[in-house]
Amino acid sequence: MWARLRRCGSYLPDELVRRTRARTGPEQQGATVMPDSTPTPAARLTELPKPVFADERATLYLGDAVELLPLLPEGSIDALVTDPPYGLSFNGQAWDDASGFRESLSHIDTSEMSAPEVFETWCTAWAAGALHALKPGAYVAAFGGARTWHRMVRGIENAGFEIRDQIAWLHTTGMPKSMDLSHAIDKHQGMQRTDRVVQTTDHDGVLGATRTVLSKGTPVTEDAQRWEGWGTALRPAFEPIIIARKPPEGNLVRNVLRHGVGGINIDDGRFADGRWPTNVAFDAGQADALDVLTGTWQGESLSRKFPIFRFDHKPSTLERPRAFGVSHTTVKPLALMRWLVTLVAPPHGVVLEPFAGSGATVEAAVSDGYRVLCFEKNASYVPLVQSRLDR
Ligand SMILES: C[S@@+](CC[C@H](N)C(=O)[O-])C[C@H]1O[C@@H](n2cnc3c(N)ncnc32)[C@H](O)[C@@H]1O
Repeated sequence: MWARLRRCGSYLPDELVRRTRARTGPEQQGATVMPDSTPTPAARLTELPKPVFADERATLYLGDAVELLPLLPEGSIDALVTDPPYGLSFNGQAWDDASGFRESLSHIDTSEMSAPEVFETWCTAWAAGALHALKPGAYVAAFGGARTWHRMVRGIENAGFEIRDQIAWLHTTGMPKSMDLSHAIDKHQGMQRTDRVVQTTDHDGVLGATRTVLSKGTPVTEDAQRWEGWGTALRPAFEPIIIARKPPEGNLVRNVLRHGVGGINIDDGRFADGRWPTNVAFDAGQADALDVLTGTWQGESLSRKFPIFRFDHKPSTLERPRAFGVSHTTVKPLALMRWLVTLVAPPHGVVLEPFAGSGATVEAAVSDGYRVLCFEKNASYVPLVQSRLDR
């Protein structure tokens, strides 16, 4: 795998390549080497720690997925459904920025890498661990961020997975994180807008302190007038879900018969009067917007051609649990997670979620009779997962 990585990017540390060469032997060097499923070389633990939660439905380990994944028994997992960090420093969370990724990659010299390169290397590392743990032919459904998913896809591919598809999750819950250029110019030039009104709250219970601009105020300088109406970001309304597969062992049919994985569960993934599952999914707001724009066609609304999953801008505690004053900032809709699990995992199979967060994947899988194995690095989210399992 590392030989392939070396060709994909020039930043892989020599140390890793040397270690891998020692493992693969001189005869393979320079040849086209198929990625192997050998776990990350510098695993610090030698076996899985005691789980922080375990019953017949779910097992949760507290720890770093990059370190723990290689410790799972090889070829033991039926599907990976995951919502990993997007590498966007979401709300200043360390788990979503290069510092968190560098912590996971302490066995690799990342000092010369840019933040996107660190993110890709980190994705490669967790994906390599997942490749090891999954059965041949097992499917992956992994959320990505619109600005960074290309790095995650490269990481998943670098590790040895086949990229099979991408589901577009279209929703209405995103908030634009845009700079008001006109106001920034006034500030830069030392001017204050006397009629600007901003409301700040210390804590809104989930996202920490917030600022809401109630009135932008009147531009003061000539430059600010010229740039009035300009910003730096669109409102996010799309998240890709990457569908990948561990290469089957030879012939796919034989692989399915031998390992019980390798296909997509089309029939159980059907929606709205039995339609074939699509690689586009909507929330109700997006579906409404589509119907308003397009009206009906042959007597039915266009949105009926796509699966629709309800998700509120301010999710209820059913969607965003709270325990000991903590809730999670990036919960995923339960119904969407159930659909994804159904599509890629065999009935009653073992689903892996290395980045549990508040446990949306865990609850989705358990409620449909799958077994779940999950990891989470942040101890304060463990009670959230447990609260979902207690329902
Ligand atoms: C995007 S959130 C998952 C949210 C989840 N889908 C939910 O609905 O609550 C990603 C989670 O991965 C965790 N995380 C980040 N880096 C990790 C690592 N190296 N190993 C394990 N967990 C990690 C973060 O603490 C965070 O809770």
